[in-house]
Amino acid sequence: MNTPTAEESAFAIQAALEAAAWAPSVHNSQPWSFAVSGDEISLRADADRKLCFSDPGGRQLLISCGAALFNLRTALRLQGYEPVVRVRPDPDRPALLATVRLGERATPDKHTKALAAEIERHRTHRGAFTDLPVPDRLVEALVQQAAAEGARLTPVRAPETVRVVATLTEAAQNVQSQDRVLSLEVIRWARPPGSARKDSVPADAYPAEPAQTDPQFAQRDYAWRHDWGTPADRGEATSTGVVALLTTTGDGREDWIATGQALQRTLLHASAHGVSAAFHTQALEMHHLREFVREELCSGAYPQMIMRLGITFNAKGAVRRPLSDLVD
Ligand SMILES: Cc1cc2nc3c(=O)[nH]c(=O)nc-3n(C[C@H](O)[C@H](O)[C@H](O)COP(=O)(O)O)c2cc1C
Repeated sequence: MNTPTAEESAFAIQAALEAAAWAPSVHNSQPWSFAVSGDEISLRADADRKLCFSDPGGRQLLISCGAALFNLRTALRLQGYEPVVRVRPDPDRPALLATVRLGERATPDKHTKALAAEIERHRTHRGAFTDLPVPDRLVEALVQQAAAEGARLTPVRAPETVRVVATLTEAAQNVQSQDRVLSLEVIRWARPPGSARKDSVPADAYPAEPAQTDPQFAQRDYAWRHDWGTPADRGEATSTGVVALLTTTGDGREDWIATGQALQRTLLHASAHGVSAAFHTQALEMHHLREFVREELCSGAYPQMIMRLGITFNAKGAVRRPLSDLVD
């Protein structure tokens, strides 16, 4: 194919930035910013949006940014460019997480098109799933999607182990809800009904009452003493879904960025097959509990995300900041 004109590159870059903005992020904090120079996009961590108490090392911040990086790559592929990515290209600029340049022209394949179609459509689920099963073949495909980005997705099949994960989640949630500072941090990222904010978790994105599943997975307390949340699904949704752990062999900044890319690739593939994810990362924010999960449930690998996968017809709205807020 021909070398792109300046207009063609600008169009592709704009599409990539719009896609990046739709990435999932912890508490919808959207902790990223972008700069464009010629045909290169720089992805930077926005430290002002870090969760200083529950994520002091920035692990979840970098996972979120890794998800944005995967969207950038996918959108450029959809536009017909092979992305040229350098992760942490300059050790003297730790906030610069990656650069992505428009590479060779290439026709997007079917899988790229399928993933790209889910970028804006995908939503985080909170609550129970329907009893419709997630096919084993799809779970196997999700394991491969995560592996292709350098992370490991492990479905937790034994009911007693699922119960352990649920218990750890509840313990972490109980500790955090009694800690004033940690509670305030969650409240900061909870959006009251009617608010015009373009970040944080909206009040209609979680059920008002805890989901009745067995075992029950504790939900983050975004409503905090308010009468927020959507009315519980009556009847249909009672399933926990498939519990899965996303792990990496290392636990450095590159591993966290890789986790984010693996997470987003897995979520988009799942979404293309009608499967949603719910996250319960509370236990991974507490050092001792994370170590316990690592040693007892992950054979020494570093747990990065705890999720449930399942089928729901209850998709909620989502908000993102406009590009003018994100691009220097
Ligand atoms: C690193 C990370 C951790 C997250 N942890 C949780 C969590 O513990 N509980 C939860 O309900 N959602 C969690 N989420 C989901 C975000 O809240 C969600 O992506 C964000 O609110 C945007 O909503 P959307 O994905 O529906 O567009 C997490 C997302 C990421 C990337």
